[in-house]
Amino acid sequence: MNKGNDKLVERLRSNTERGSILWRLVRPVVRPVWSLIHNRDYVSDYDRDYYLYHGCVLPPREMRGRLGASFLADGFYLESGIAEARRLAARLAYSKSSLVVDIGCGLGRLATGMLWEFGDVQYLGIDSNPVFAEWCREHIERNHPSFRFIHLDVVNELYNPAGKIDGDRIRLPLADATADIVYLWGLFTNMGPEHVRIYVSEMSRIAREGSRIFLTAFVEENVPEVSFIPKGYVPYECVKPLQCVRYSKEFLFSIFSRYGLVVEEFRHHGGAFPSQSEVYLRKEKVAA
Ligand SMILES: C[S@@+](CC[C@H](N)C(=O)[O-])C[C@H]1O[C@@H](n2cnc3c(N)ncnc32)[C@H](O)[C@@H]1O
Repeated sequence: MNKGNDKLVERLRSNTERGSILWRLVRPVVRPVWSLIHNRDYVSDYDRDYYLYHGCVLPPREMRGRLGASFLADGFYLESGIAEARRLAARLAYSKSSLVVDIGCGLGRLATGMLWEFGDVQYLGIDSNPVFAEWCREHIERNHPSFRFIHLDVVNELYNPAGKIDGDRIRLPLADATADIVYLWGLFTNMGPEHVRIYVSEMSRIAREGSRIFLTAFVEENVPEVSFIPKGYVPYECVKPLQCVRYSKEFLFSIFSRYGLVVEEFRHHGGAFPSQSEVYLRKEKVAA
């Protein structure tokens, strides 16, 4: 990664750590006061449909908060999206002709960063949360049709509990070998092993030979294959199912290798968020 982006990521990481400590301290006071002033529950304020920040259209803060408390701050949200877009160029061989597939795209944080860095591009965002996908379509795709967003109704206890697609019926809406970059920030962090296996197989199917894949996950050595909400592992309160799913390195990497994905780099706890590790993969070339 280039030096400028390293510095930006380092600053975001220390802001996240400071932010999560600060938020834990002020939350007991802020929430009731906010509810009192606005006469409604803090987390249910979806009334304001978007925010304009430095000319960028950002999702409502309360929606962003569902992805992590750090994302409540406009500056952090935008800068972290820009840092992710720069990662594509610096580490994932991004070029103007690349088709980028963002699985678990959330509220289009990467897309917002890409718009800032590159302008219009070839991008497909896929998310299981209908509200997030709709927000992206309305506020990003409508003005920038080269960014497309799809709602995939896969069940996820945390983000889409009423989802209708499960198990072997999960299929990404792309033909074989069409994606140049596959990107999954914070998807496997909240996903059980059955779905991880299917998503890795699907990622491998849609990726062109030699293409790059980036993902973040909770990964450790010498731990059980899968742990749901391991005690004291992340420095925030986990009160909902799948809020933190940790994998053993051996188990996760064996799934990658089964589906022809080579680990090019593993950055243990290398992400801007506590305990998240970064994995850079390449789709193996099949010998002729
Ligand atoms: C932690 S958020 C990350 C959002 C986004 N990648 C970002 O960087 O801001 C995880 C996202 O994955 C989505 N998700 C969860 N399970 C999914 C699935 N099976 N298929 C597609 N998206 C899923 C959630 O709805 C949520 O938007």
